[in-house]
Amino acid sequence: MNTNTAEVIENVAPIMSLRHVHQYFGGVQALIDVDMDIYPGEVIALVGDNGAGKSTFLKVISGVNIPQQSEIEFEGKTITISNTLDPVNLGIQTVYQDLALCDNLDVVQNLFLGREIVNKFGRLNESEMERIARECLDEMGIELTSVRAKVSDLSGGQRQAVAIARAMLGSPKIVLLDEPLANLGLVQREQVGKLILNLRSKNVGVVVVSHDLAEVFAVCDRVVVFRLGEKVAEISRPEITKERVVAEITGSNTFMEEDE
Ligand SMILES: Nc1ncnc2c1ncn2[C@@H]1O[C@H](COP(=O)(O)OP(=O)(O)OP(=O)(O)O)[C@@H](O)[C@H]1O
Ligand SMILES: [Mg+2]
Repeated sequence: MNTNTAEVIENVAPIMSLRHVHQYFGGVQALIDVDMDIYPGEVIALVGDNGAGKSTFLKVISGVNIPQQSEIEFEGKTITISNTLDPVNLGIQTVYQDLALCDNLDVVQNLFLGREIVNKFGRLNESEMERIARECLDEMGIELTSVRAKVSDLSGGQRQAVAIARAMLGSPKIVLLDEPLANLGLVQREQVGKLILNLRSKNVGVVVVSHDLAEVFAVCDRVVVFRLGEKVAEISRPEITKERVVAEITGSNTFMEEDE
């Protein structure tokens, strides 16, 4: 278990560093001068109120949003992200807020969508894809009655698990999760929490956006707080407390600081 994160990270280089990220949408300043380092084997909880810029930031990393200004390094090299394929090629996988699974396809088809395995005759190699799908789901402790079940027939938690498994299949270095716990029951939340810890144990850098503070605190090593497009706090274990994070999210801590 990665309990002493600060100490661990001191000797480890970040996988990715983002600096001076500015993103405007017309008159809306969605991100203002945001910095973030993503380390291997670390789970960052990205929190903040509605509209704070969390999804926008993940979309910058995943190439959906192209910011007006940014400096990005990946494994020590300066890079630019110009489209959604660039991050995928670097080993960055994203599980979006709306999941982006195809309801009418089964689990195997969803896992391999856009990267199907074909045999030497150019035909889909169904048995190989099924085998890898089973192996991946087993390894992540995801139980499904069949890998041929249609995604529309799965529960919310199972769908979320398939979306995370899809992200895992490409052996990613970074996984971004936007609201993976939304609309899930207690048991399913616990299962997604375990999947996040599983990613961390594989040395993946994880950024998870969530409004559910208790749930993300259970799995994260560091909390980053956004407020109105700005990064206002970055808190590592063991300093993470609900009171402190809520104060940063709402901005009530500014009064506390003035009182001190
Ligand atoms: N494509 C877009 N066009 C215009 N405005 C946008 C776009 N994407 C985001 N915004 C605006 O940027 C701001 C930040 O939005 P964002 O979706 O990043 O918030 P969030 O922190 O993810 O909120 P939530 O917790 O509600 O998901 C909001 O004011 C939003 O309206
Ligand atoms: Mg969002």
